Amino acid sequence: MLNLAIFGPPGAGKGTQSGRLVEKYGLLYISTGDILRKETASGSELGQEINRITSQGHFVSDDLIMRIIRKTIRENPHANGILFDGFPRTLSQAALLEGLMDELTTRFFGVLGLEVPREELIERLLNRGKVSGRADDKEAVIIERLKEYEEKTWPVATYFMERNRYYPVDGTGTLDQIFNRLVSQIEKHTC
Ligand code: AP5
Ligand code: MG
Repeated sequence: MLNLAIFGPPGAGKGTQSGRLVEKYGLLYISTGDILRKETASGSELGQEINRITSQGHFVSDDLIMRIIRKTIRENPHANGILFDGFPRTLSQAALLEGLMDELTTRFFGVLGLEVPREELIERLLNRGKVSGRADDKEAVIIERLKEYEEKTWPVATYFMERNRYYPVDGTGTLDQIFNRLVSQIEKHTC
């Protein structure tokens, strides 16, 4: 079982790189952002509540996140492992993840942290915003998301660094270059 998280600020390329990692290692992909956007698109009452929070660049509750993660795992019992994208996003979620791994009697490999300069993140997200239709790809919301990342999510990187399970990856360059760097970090630390 290879359980890991792709980590990094908004626009770092987590979603972009996830598809190939999932394919190469036969993983179950859990993108909390994608699941929340799907619920929003359904127009349900819960979706409307999620949209009110995420369109401001803020985080939904840990409780909701854990419910959607558990549901996805329950529905996919035969995966070779899990790739989390967008989780854990806070220190409390990091602790919840450790608990979840214990419950599933498996271990957590660690966090692959895509590192990209702030100016490039903003440029990527503004470009994506022209076509994505994502309510959070507007300049003011992008700035808020980066602030939330720095305040609440970056401490998660430190948490895993202290446990020797944060694996930094240069997130700039071509998609192939970045993918090769991700794979080499995985191979280096699973052998
Ligand atoms: P989420 O969906 O996780 O968004 P995010 O972390 O803000 O990140 P993005 O999806 O915007 O970026 P990405 O790193 O996936 O980059 P991408 O590959 O798309 O979360 C959205 C919201 O949901 C949160 O703000 C929060 O409100 C809520 N939420 C989610 N999880 C939560 C949790 N656990 N707890 C609480 N709330 C939660 O790439 C970005 C762009 O760059 C694309 O256009 C791409 O084509 C381009 N690009 C990618 N790679 C390159 C490259 N190498 N060179 C040039 N361009 C590139
Ligand atoms: Mg994404």
